[in-house]
Amino acid sequence: MTSPFPSHPHVLTWVNEMTELCQPSAVHWCDGSQEEYDALCDLLVERGTFTKLNPGRRPGCFLARSAPSDVARVEDRTFICTRRKALAGPTNNWRAPAEMKAMLTEKFRGSMQGRTLYVVPFCMGPLDSPLALVGVQVTDSPYVVVSMKIMAHMGAAVWNKLGVTGRWLPCLHSVGAPLTVGQQDVPWPCNDDKYIVHFPEDPAVWSYGSGYGGNALLGKKCVALRLASWLAREENWLAEHMLILGIHAPDGRSTYVCGAFPSACGKTNLAMLVPPESYRAAGWKTTLVGDDIAWLWPDKDGVLRAINPETGFFGVAPGTSPHSNPNAIAAIARNTLFTNVALTDDGDVWWEGLTREPPAHLIDWQGLDWTPGCGRPAAHANSRFTAPAAQCPSIDPRWQDPNGVPVSAIIFGGRRPGTMPLIYQSFNWAHGVYVGATMGSETTAAAIGQAGIVRRDPMAMLPFCGYDAGEYFAHWLEMRRHIKHLPRLFHVNWFRKGPDGSFLWPGFSENMRVLEWIVRRCRGSIPGHETMIGWTPHWEDFNSNGLPEFTREQFDKVMAVDPAEWRTEVASQADFFLKIYDSLPKELVYQRELLSARLVVD
Ligand code: OXD
Ligand code: MN
Repeated sequence: MTSPFPSHPHVLTWVNEMTELCQPSAVHWCDGSQEEYDALCDLLVERGTFTKLNPGRRPGCFLARSAPSDVARVEDRTFICTRRKALAGPTNNWRAPAEMKAMLTEKFRGSMQGRTLYVVPFCMGPLDSPLALVGVQVTDSPYVVVSMKIMAHMGAAVWNKLGVTGRWLPCLHSVGAPLTVGQQDVPWPCNDDKYIVHFPEDPAVWSYGSGYGGNALLGKKCVALRLASWLAREENWLAEHMLILGIHAPDGRSTYVCGAFPSACGKTNLAMLVPPESYRAAGWKTTLVGDDIAWLWPDKDGVLRAINPETGFFGVAPGTSPHSNPNAIAAIARNTLFTNVALTDDGDVWWEGLTREPPAHLIDWQGLDWTPGCGRPAAHANSRFTAPAAQCPSIDPRWQDPNGVPVSAIIFGGRRPGTMPLIYQSFNWAHGVYVGATMGSETTAAAIGQAGIVRRDPMAMLPFCGYDAGEYFAHWLEMRRHIKHLPRLFHVNWFRKGPDGSFLWPGFSENMRVLEWIVRRCRGSIPGHETMIGWTPHWEDFNSNGLPEFTREQFDKVMAVDPAEWRTEVASQADFFLKIYDSLPKELVYQRELLSARLVVD
């Protein structure tokens, strides 16, 4: 029988200290059982945080509406606190750890009054993986507890793995809304004063004031990316904001690729891609290992392997439809938590893009009556589904393999209306690191901020790298020495537009055609076309069978490399490089020079 209590003395001491500090009225040690999950969901319904959805339409599903002030990650309130500021680097918010801890300790003092403190043991990665990381989150949010059960290995089994001396990461979380005696609670308690704080040298996370997503489910962005990226540099591995996808060819050979894309730019769709009919008929298949985070390490034979440290999806709902992502639609049919989507009159969910025609009446994400044409979106742009990964029809049979899957290619990409061709391959590892380091994308609603401008988001890690960006690139370059079979590095852009503003590439399942070219390049079975920016496909090698309207002319348009546009691009990349100049590896400066030199010979 597994005990709900740890035998690790430091965990017990820490939980006692946190209890004294936060002064909850009760402490609940989570065992991770289904009974516990069900009881907490019932409690959330009773409190008005959850609405139970119609079990005939969405069995085991609930809808939560957050406070309108707590709807996304808060990057300007996210801090990396290292002893020296330079270690956090110019792209992270920094405060001295002692100063931050002193200030936050006062915020946490009494912050859980009138609430229960839940102790959530969790493990990122399969329990017996060499990379698995154990964390212990204390939180006063039952919504966080049930979400953590979906997103990570959570519960008493984690204590067994930890044993008496294992490494674990303390994660302190409070919504920052103490209740005085007799005070009526609100459905989504939170505090306008938010702090998402990382102490990578400890390592530890302290999160205050938010109950939403990456601010509050601390295993995800805080541990599996920010703290893990720090540990990965020390231990020669990589913690990346990447999907992991298996591509299985008709000849029985499998190729696994990782993909780094900034938030909400089609990453979940690619991770769950269903090949077009013509490919399926020919025997191609794709499988999903992970949709958001990949941990990669070279094994003893020098092969780069990847695991997905998570067990669930925290996916952006708007735009998810049977057309854009049938696998996601199947994955969220049951046992799913929806946050900030709209409620239909028959107790189901809806969001923009789910169906062509909106329902005639909805309750919107703020709980208000909604009718088509009322001028407000029914679902928040960053509304989400939290669903068990095992429910995805394309889940890879090896997705929980502790030794992960071998990685043959890494794909970088962003939402770029201009400049970037559909696909190109870097000349070598260092050039590919440069391509990843200079990635950019139009901004979206996943984080607070202005949407629609291009921001540099190196390797899609700008908001998630737990240390200095220049050192991070140096680590990537250094990994070359540890990986014998270096993955090939690519850049894709599904979002290129023509002069009339329409997309030049159909995207979605047709992206399989680009994946096929990647697979064949990894196998070394086709020549590339050498251009100024890298290797691109020859038209003859690009499979357009079954896509008759995609002509050679259209291919040339979506693949065009315009030296003038690229010179502007390189100049704007320089702005980002200047920001991190102090630690930028010289090799990347030279890569930029080489690219500039190639661009003048047109
Ligand atoms: C996410 C993000 O939620 O990247 O995955 O913002
Ligand atoms: Mn993400």
